[in-house]
Amino acid sequence: MWKGLIHQYSQLLPVTEKTPKLSLQEGNTPLIPLETLSEKWGIDLYVKYEGANPTGSFKDRGMVMAVAKAKEDGSEAIMCASTGNTSAAAAAYAARAGLRCIIVIPYGKIAMGKLAQAVMYGAEIYAIEGNFDNALQMVRNLSEVSPITLVNSVNPYRIEGQKTAAFEVCDQLGSAPDVLAIPVGNAGNITAYWKGFQEYHDLYKTGLPKMHGFEAEGAAAIVRNKVIENPETIATAIRIGNPASWDKAVEAATTSNGKIDEVTDAEILDAYQLLAQTEGVFAEPASCASLAGVKKHLDSGEIKKGSKVVAVLTGNGLKDPNCAIDTANFSPIQLPNNENVLFDHILGRVAH
Ligand code: F0G
Repeated sequence: MWKGLIHQYSQLLPVTEKTPKLSLQEGNTPLIPLETLSEKWGIDLYVKYEGANPTGSFKDRGMVMAVAKAKEDGSEAIMCASTGNTSAAAAAYAARAGLRCIIVIPYGKIAMGKLAQAVMYGAEIYAIEGNFDNALQMVRNLSEVSPITLVNSVNPYRIEGQKTAAFEVCDQLGSAPDVLAIPVGNAGNITAYWKGFQEYHDLYKTGLPKMHGFEAEGAAAIVRNKVIENPETIATAIRIGNPASWDKAVEAATTSNGKIDEVTDAEILDAYQLLAQTEGVFAEPASCASLAGVKKHLDSGEIKKGSKVVAVLTGNGLKDPNCAIDTANFSPIQLPNNENVLFDHILGRVAH
């Protein structure tokens, strides 16, 4: 039976006998081959489906480690700024560990499913009239003058937990892929994957992928090489204008011969629908920046035909139901409660 990341990777994580065996059985997520798109695009394409984690995003990997260490160190409260997923994971693991959880979010800019999670797990929620970058600055400042443990990805235990996804990719494929495509927001996850691939390669000679990170065009601070004061994108999870792990993301891309690039909201939404409709895989919009980026780099020749490519799908599509309904332009065909009328429609006897 799978017992979660702290159990599975205790040798490769900062775990001691005193570390609580905290777990919601996170990790061990599917690596799904995209057969139709592989054929169409002439590559060997897989997605690492992080939406299968207990709170529906990759954040559970980092949070289990950060919360376990906070508990081990005697902390009674954790705190984070969030575009939604970090707060959902923090709230869940805090509930599990019996800690107080404080979350600070940008008012009106987090997806409904994520907010519902934080509410259900019993977090204290503060919604500021500012963006994620403002919220992060505030909680960083507060953590310096209070005993509350900060669990954003500037907490090194978050990166430690999240690096396990790279271990799993290597185990699932038998080696690292040629290219790892990943959305970039605050830039913690690309940092974590690169650390994980390097550590696994040092131990087991699994090889190193080229790291291709993708920001949303309206929040592409790293690509533009300047802080974006008012980031905007449909992909609210990566609506971040001043990534905390900026330098580490650049280092991952540069040393791996990869690239940090940007994708437009239109490209993100195309990938979002394509993924669901041709492969049966539903991931939230920010996640689809990775797939949109793969398409962009195939078209530009920056990913070669025949490459083995893994795109990380960071969060579950159900996190943001409003985006799905709105972008699909969906309005139901409303019918009376009458079998004959229904049959006429289904069997094409009525023009739509
Ligand atoms: N994808 C999703 C679904 C996310 O929620 C995030 C970050 C990212 C990608 C980007 O990861 O920040 O490590 O580069 N969400 C954070 C949050 C900021 O608060 O949930 P990153």
